Amino acid sequence: MEIRISQRVAATPPYPFAEIDAKVRALRERGVDVVDFGVGDPTSPTPDFVVAAVAEAARARATAGYPAYEGDPDYRAAAAEYIRREFGVALDPDREVASTAGSKEAVFHFPLGFVDGGDVVICPTPGYPPYKNGTRFAGGVPYFVPLLEENDFLIDYDAIPEDVCRRAKVIWTNYPNSPTGKVAPGEWLEGLLKWARQYGIIVAADEGCYHEVYFGKRPASVLEVGREGVIVFYSLSKRNNMTCYRVGFVAGDERIISVYKKVKTNVDSGTPTFIQDAAAAALRDRDHAAQMREEYRAKRRVMLTALANAALPPCQSEATFYLWQKAPAGMSGVDLAGKLLEIGVVTTPGEWITDATAEGVNPGRDFVRFALVPPAVQVEAAAARLAVLDFRKR
Ligand SMILES: Cc1ncc(COP(=O)(O)O)c(C=O)c1O
Repeated sequence: MEIRISQRVAATPPYPFAEIDAKVRALRERGVDVVDFGVGDPTSPTPDFVVAAVAEAARARATAGYPAYEGDPDYRAAAAEYIRREFGVALDPDREVASTAGSKEAVFHFPLGFVDGGDVVICPTPGYPPYKNGTRFAGGVPYFVPLLEENDFLIDYDAIPEDVCRRAKVIWTNYPNSPTGKVAPGEWLEGLLKWARQYGIIVAADEGCYHEVYFGKRPASVLEVGREGVIVFYSLSKRNNMTCYRVGFVAGDERIISVYKKVKTNVDSGTPTFIQDAAAAALRDRDHAAQMREEYRAKRRVMLTALANAALPPCQSEATFYLWQKAPAGMSGVDLAGKLLEIGVVTTPGEWITDATAEGVNPGRDFVRFALVPPAVQVEAAAARLAVLDFRKR
């Protein structure tokens, strides 16, 4: 029997990070001692107090049945407390907060609530792949806006053509930004909301994945500027090394949250309640996030020094655990990633995680991404290997 798959799946390329995983596996099978800066998955352990909270909650919830779709009341309260503590914004945990199975699920399914066939969703490039893939699976059309060095890696919303603005339902933003490390200034956020409201475009701000991994000024939230027409996405994955727990939350305009909840009740049955209990404990703790930030700060310093010593172009990163490193003149990101692979250093070529814009600009072509997730000793080892490269001598 012929298995006929949907056009939607047939048109979707393999998930880029699955390809990187396969490459790393193949190198390791060949005995290469690899330092893997490819996929942004932390290698440090989930904190003990979170693991203990799961064990305790699993026992306490032994007869709990299905989780609440929108999140346990205590978890939603912890999320609202978190937003108030971080940004001074008071949210109603019943109406303005919902739990997610991590941001990937929420980002991917979000357009199902708002996008009809042919509607436009504005997506940054480089950008997290579910922005565009979720849009396409919902029948929408991504319009790619480039994050360019000359624009300080901010979306130039004023440059988006009028007809696109009129057809757009949603704009995805992601600051602190993966992979450029850019933090959005307050005045940019204010301008964004003003621009979006003029066209009735929902601002879907994927701001809470790396919000606590910053090295200068603390990043602001879009919620500090306003909540009408806004939804923000937060995740415990990177904040507390909880990628395998699959838990996060969304917050914002209750009209948007209620539609998200309606979609979600049809998609899954909620994050296991004992995981939400542990996530609530994690959100209420500040020390662990501060400790993680210092670990990333140290690794970042080591790598930035090594990259500068190798005479690579200066690399800006104000936040996140990514470095968006430009290739030297005359080399593409793919070339640079290839050179690094020769010394067992795995990175992601920028163009693997970027899409060309309607004008044919691919903003990732000249870059590679480092995810500073290997343990500190491996980062030191990679820095030592980089010492053999000197791009002045090419
Ligand atoms: C920009 C961005 N948003 C969202 C996510 C999703 O995180 P999770 O689904 O683990 O919550 C990631 C994960 O790497 C990310 O880089």
